[in-house]
Amino acid sequence: MAEQQFSPGLAGVVAGKSEVGLVNGTDGILLYRGYRVEDLAEHCTFEEVAHLLLVGKLPNAAELAAFDAELKARRALPEGILDILRALPKTTHPMAALQAATAALSGFYPALDAGDRKASWEGILRLTAGMPTIVAAFHRIRQGLPVVAPDTSLTAAADFLTMLNGERPTEKAARLFDVCLVLHAEHGFNASTFTGRVVGSSLADIYASMSAAVGSLSGPLHGGANEEVLVQLKTIPSAAEAPAWLDHMIETKQKIMGLGHRVYKVKDPRAGILQRMASDLFSTQGSTPLYDIAHAIEKHAAVRLGPKGIWPNVDFYSGLVYQKLGLTVDLFTPIFAIARIAGWSAHWLEQMQDNKIYRPDCIYAGPHDVSVPAIGDR
Ligand SMILES: CC(C)(COP(=O)(O)OP(=O)(O)OC[C@H]1O[C@@H](n2cnc3c(N)ncnc32)[C@H](O)[C@@H]1OP(=O)(O)O)[C@@H](O)C(=O)NCCC(=O)NCCS
Repeated sequence: MAEQQFSPGLAGVVAGKSEVGLVNGTDGILLYRGYRVEDLAEHCTFEEVAHLLLVGKLPNAAELAAFDAELKARRALPEGILDILRALPKTTHPMAALQAATAALSGFYPALDAGDRKASWEGILRLTAGMPTIVAAFHRIRQGLPVVAPDTSLTAAADFLTMLNGERPTEKAARLFDVCLVLHAEHGFNASTFTGRVVGSSLADIYASMSAAVGSLSGPLHGGANEEVLVQLKTIPSAAEAPAWLDHMIETKQKIMGLGHRVYKVKDPRAGILQRMASDLFSTQGSTPLYDIAHAIEKHAAVRLGPKGIWPNVDFYSGLVYQKLGLTVDLFTPIFAIARIAGWSAHWLEQMQDNKIYRPDCIYAGPHDVSVPAIGDR
């Protein structure tokens, strides 16, 4: 047999073709269907970006109104999904609750044949509209608070914050959160997107595929890093001590959370947008020691780690922004999921257009032809 190539983590392996998103790590460029993420964040809502990703084009006003109405009609959850969320222990991680409820939606809106475009599209609308409701409802349930029903007069971002906190956010907070959703909506062939495509490649339905993607995102090497950033920042006593802390971390070869990226070797374009948003938010609403510490770390890291291609990634400032919006740390990854459902579903649809089940090779490294000993001899 010819020598088999092994690439741990499939690094450098081309495993698909996609028109959905491009991540150019050398130049720090992120495109959603050709559009720069900075441009989309400045000019579009999450609903427009979801249309772009899922349908393939930015909507005109009439198309946006129709798409928005379709989503709004699907924001409310069946009572059975709320019962499932109520049955979970209150200590359940919101990502586990989200994964369970996402899979369970298939019982209410069957889309058993992945080739059935109509049922799958219905599933995509249900998931895009319903995942924020699931996250908010579980957050209320686990605190013993009544679930807040969706308000279809609000945007997806404003409604999520309302369902979560029981009160309407300011316009500024809602738009800030909307931009966060835009920034997290798509990021190429990452682990969770690939998971969704792999599960879909067996023609598993949209709910099974997207719940698997939620599970993939839940790991600390993928979606969980923004939680870790806050944990680490809290260990630094003050901004004045941040440079010495960073030097110590580098000398003892420890990783600084929120810095570095597998693909980006320059500053993650999303981090730049989040940094500007954070600086605006903190300058108008009052700075916090954590933000000042983060800022001091970024400045010193540019000198110490920048030349090695290690720069802030999307997670460095997102946790600080979410915290300032009053969101608890364990909601950070679910928020990532309610945005990324748009990218995941767009990739899933693409997978269905030209599907071949994923079945990579593996180098067998075990023994051969071992005979089974009698049970008493093992
Ligand atoms: C994201 C990450 C896994 C990318 O890793 P990678 O491209 O495989 O890079 P490596 O882990 O191989 O690191 C290459 C070098 O940079 C250093 N490095 C990478 N990220 C670093 C960080 N955050 N802090 C300090 N040093 C870092 C490594 O120690 C290594 O140094 P060495 O050459 O002296 O051994 C890594 O940067 C990391 O763990 N970052 C922190 C976690 C995080 O923020 N994750 C969210 C990503 S969106």
